[in-house]
This record gives sequence, structure tokens and C-alpha cells, in this order.
Amino acid sequence: MENLRAAVITLSDKGYRGEREDKSGPLIVEMLKEAGYVIEETLLLPDGIEPLKSELIRLADECQMDLVLTTGGTGFAPTDVTPEATLAVATRNAPGIAEAMRAYSLKITPRAMLSRAASVLRGSTLIVNLPGSPKAVRESLEYILPSLEHGILLVNGRDGECARK
Ligand code: MTE
Repeated sequence: MENLRAAVITLSDKGYRGEREDKSGPLIVEMLKEAGYVIEETLLLPDGIEPLKSELIRLADECQMDLVLTTGGTGFAPTDVTPEATLAVATRNAPGIAEAMRAYSLKITPRAMLSRAASVLRGSTLIVNLPGSPKAVRESLEYILPSLEHGILLVNGRDGECARK
């Protein structure tokens, strides 16, 4: 595959305060590397809309990342606002990826319906919210990851043919 550039953001108040080890961020990094992505940045942010919004804007507009994956903050707790920050920076919606994660995950646990994850484009950067737990990250990402490269290449006009897969 081409050298696609990715960033990974963990949203966790406890992780940010050093009270909990972030296991989901490193797992995403490992899975992306295995799929051939170059990991340019990993960030650990507190829950909240503004810090995530400004990092997403920077990573898309200045760094021109191909892919930004977030983990955490997609549930129903009052501090779970990752989808709101993601939708706020979107230039185009790409709902199928989040829908696919939920559809696949529902076969594993009915609680997948509680994931409010969003997937969007900002310019030529694809941003996808993953759930918070390492188990949910692995299950969700292993399902969507094989299809992301084609989408990313299409955004940049680098992949003309929609080969049947
Ligand atoms: N998806 C998969 N594949 N496996 C899971 O165990 N857990 C769900 C859901 N999606 C889960 C899943 C649960 S319990 C919640 S509350 C939501 O993701 C949101 O998780 P978050 O608040 O950690 O982001």
C-alpha cells in the first residue's frame, strides 16, 4: 500500500490525569502499523469538545493526515462528546463507516447500539471515532480497516477504480 499517514487520539480524563494506562491508543497504533500505515502522532486528550476540535483541525488542515482515529468518548456519559467534536469539524459526512462498525459489533454485543461514533471527512482527512475499550477497539477496527485505504485513496483521486471486494 501507499504510505498512508495516520494519527491516533485517545480521549480519557483518567488517562490524561495519569490515573489509567491508555491501552486502546497503543492497540490502534499496532493495528495500523500492521496494515502498513505510518503513525505520525499519538495524542492523549481530556474529554471535552474544544481540545479535540482544535487537534482535529490541526491534524487535517496543517498536517494533512490521511487518517485520524479517535478512541473513547462515544457513549452516553455526560463527558462523552467525541462525536460532537468530530461532526463540528466535518466538511463532508461519511456515515457508512460508523454504521458498519455498529452493524458488525451488534453481532457481538447488543450494547454496540450505545456507541454514538461518527465518521467524517475534513478536506482530504478521514476521521473515524472508535469506542473506548481495547476489546471494542479491536473488534471495530479489524472489521473496518481493510476498507479504509480505498476510501482514503478515492478522496485524493489516487484510486480511480472501485474494484469489487
Ligand atoms: N463495540 C464492540 N465491538 N464491542 C464492545 O464491547 N461496547 C459498547 C459500544 N461498542 C462495545 C462496542 C459499549 S458498552 C459502549 S457504552 C459504546 O461502545 C461506547 O463506548 P465508549 O464510551 O467507550 O466510547
